[in-house]
Amino acid sequence: MPLALTPVHFFSHGSTMMLGEQSESADYWKQCGDEALARGIKGVIMMGAHWDCVGPNRVQVSMNPSPGKSPVAYVHPSKYVDYKLVPDLETGNKCIEMLAQDGFEVTANDKFDWIHDTYLILIRMFPEQCPPTTIISLNARFEPHFHMRVGAALRPLREQGYLLIGTGGAVHNLYRNVWQSMLKYSDNFAQETPPEDWAMEFRQAVEDAISGNSGPHLRRAITRLMKHPRFRDAHATDDHFMAAAFCAGAAGSEDDSGVYGKLEAETWELTNMCNSQFTIGAYA
Ligand SMILES: [Fe+2]
Repeated sequence: MPLALTPVHFFSHGSTMMLGEQSESADYWKQCGDEALARGIKGVIMMGAHWDCVGPNRVQVSMNPSPGKSPVAYVHPSKYVDYKLVPDLETGNKCIEMLAQDGFEVTANDKFDWIHDTYLILIRMFPEQCPPTTIISLNARFEPHFHMRVGAALRPLREQGYLLIGTGGAVHNLYRNVWQSMLKYSDNFAQETPPEDWAMEFRQAVEDAISGNSGPHLRRAITRLMKHPRFRDAHATDDHFMAAAFCAGAAGSEDDSGVYGKLEAETWELTNMCNSQFTIGAYA
């Protein structure tokens, strides 16, 4: 068993309204932030779902010294405009070195403005102050093993006191959400009917994969989920599942064998979107 490691979070950020509305998931994000601060983490390293780069084997690291925020719909600006983002350029350089060493074609992006997939979570976890944060891009080929390997390359940072977070979605298909209540009444939590069976099934498959596998088995279970018969129903596009692969890489080495992930909170939105919140491991 490892001596001292931070946990890894796979968070489902859901719709933009998860920033403004109270939920069980939001409470859990805050709890994780409080614990991270109490443990004195050095910084946060995130892979989201909304930023990707093109080219085989390519990945980028956020190196904008003063990033702006892409605006979010359906949320009052007061919930986010004044929140100061804190980019961690020193750790960004460290990530670039580690990824290059592992054979990735990695570049700094000094123009990237942060998007709600990451800052929604940061605001919820750390409402008082953003910790030093580094964002790692996706690769636009959305290949699960590639993103798993990115997580694996950065895993040593867990031993150095960094908190690694993947922010995507367990069940996240915008084309199959039921949007009317949100569009008409700003009610993203209305569940006029139960979720459809494909959503329930894939949600269960994600929970089973994370809670029933550890170490390299976790990596295989998560990457294999993209072949699940319900995957394409649950994810019309692959982008929100890459964060899960990143987490499996970051928390799925031989040394992580025996450390199982747990479903800690869950919030259904828009009838068919399942925002499951998982944590793999615990502060040692
Ligand atoms: Fe998203």
